[in-house]
Amino acid sequence: MPFYTSLGKIPAKRHTQFRKPDGGLYREEVMGLEGFSGLESILYHHFLPPRVQQVEDLGPLEQDYAQDGGLRHRAFATAQLPAGGDAVSARRALLGNRDVTLSVSRPTSSMAYYYRNGQAYEIWYVHEGHGSLNSQFGQLAFRPGDYIVIPFGTTWQMKLENEGRFFVIEAPSQIEPPNRYRNKYGQLLEHAPYCERDIRLPRELETHTERGEFELRVKARDRLTRHTLDHHPFDVIGWDGYLYPWILSIHDFEPITGRLHQPPPVHQTFQGQNFVVCSFVPRLFDYHPESIPAPYNHSNVNSDEVIYYAEGDFMSRRGIDRADITLHPSGLPHGPQPGATEASIGKQATNELAVMVDTFHPLQVCVAALELEKSEYMASWLEGSGE
Ligand SMILES: [Fe+2]
Repeated sequence: MPFYTSLGKIPAKRHTQFRKPDGGLYREEVMGLEGFSGLESILYHHFLPPRVQQVEDLGPLEQDYAQDGGLRHRAFATAQLPAGGDAVSARRALLGNRDVTLSVSRPTSSMAYYYRNGQAYEIWYVHEGHGSLNSQFGQLAFRPGDYIVIPFGTTWQMKLENEGRFFVIEAPSQIEPPNRYRNKYGQLLEHAPYCERDIRLPRELETHTERGEFELRVKARDRLTRHTLDHHPFDVIGWDGYLYPWILSIHDFEPITGRLHQPPPVHQTFQGQNFVVCSFVPRLFDYHPESIPAPYNHSNVNSDEVIYYAEGDFMSRRGIDRADITLHPSGLPHGPQPGATEASIGKQATNELAVMVDTFHPLQVCVAALELEKSEYMASWLEGSGE
């Protein structure tokens, strides 16, 4: 999140002597994006950051895309995905392209190792589960409805208090608040659906100085590498800057409503390179006396639309269950199923909760998604006379 913060102890000046109680130097690390021109933070470590005792290649991580059937609307019942493992190992990619990968993870246990994604930002939308995302920046406690935003290069470990269910967005680009909601200084504007007060930052920085063997799995170049460190990776005594993991709760997203149906961009929550993330939250419906709350039919020109249905009744969709994902690809119009438009008239409010990802390039379906597919979905518009 592009605003400045700091946690723990840091020296008065950058790049100066900063000494431990025993007289040794803390080891300074500048962690930044876009060379030295983007967001950055400076961390002060107890141990030299490059110390790696052992390197082991754990193999490729490329997506296994399926080539099946013609262009059609699709739905996937992710509730059927089996639960088990930790957050990272339980992650199953279901849809993807070069700009973004969409996964679901249903972990049952905390991570016993540490993880760093060196090639992508990650957002973990917490559908179910409580726990904390621990990193070298400190602890972030999470609960259902949270978007946990994790920048490139963050070393983290997820601890769970109970079984989790996550919708995960992974992208090789920065994921950030939409430009149109920020002024030239980066501050969120008055018409933004959330503001800085809604952003939760890492807290409770613990500095670990233990020696031993610590497993770190690093994702980079579409491969996974195991690095065995001879020291605890969370050895930071303090840090400051603009780059760190943060949380926005979907429940703090204030919906923008109007007399007539508002278009999907009012739901936009984040932007990435060639995709957007939107939040559908409980809200009052349109208040023009003749308004139709259900969306009009629309063709997603140059955009594939993915919706993860979290809670409530989604007014325009029939046959959709909790934790389902729909894919409405570009090149084909979609809209409410028969009867849904008429049924929406006169409704005052919706209690729906869903996350939408619109991609500007076509998505591909992963092999793992095929066994979750609701094959009847495309036929759900055929009921009735068709008028
Ligand atoms: Fe749509």
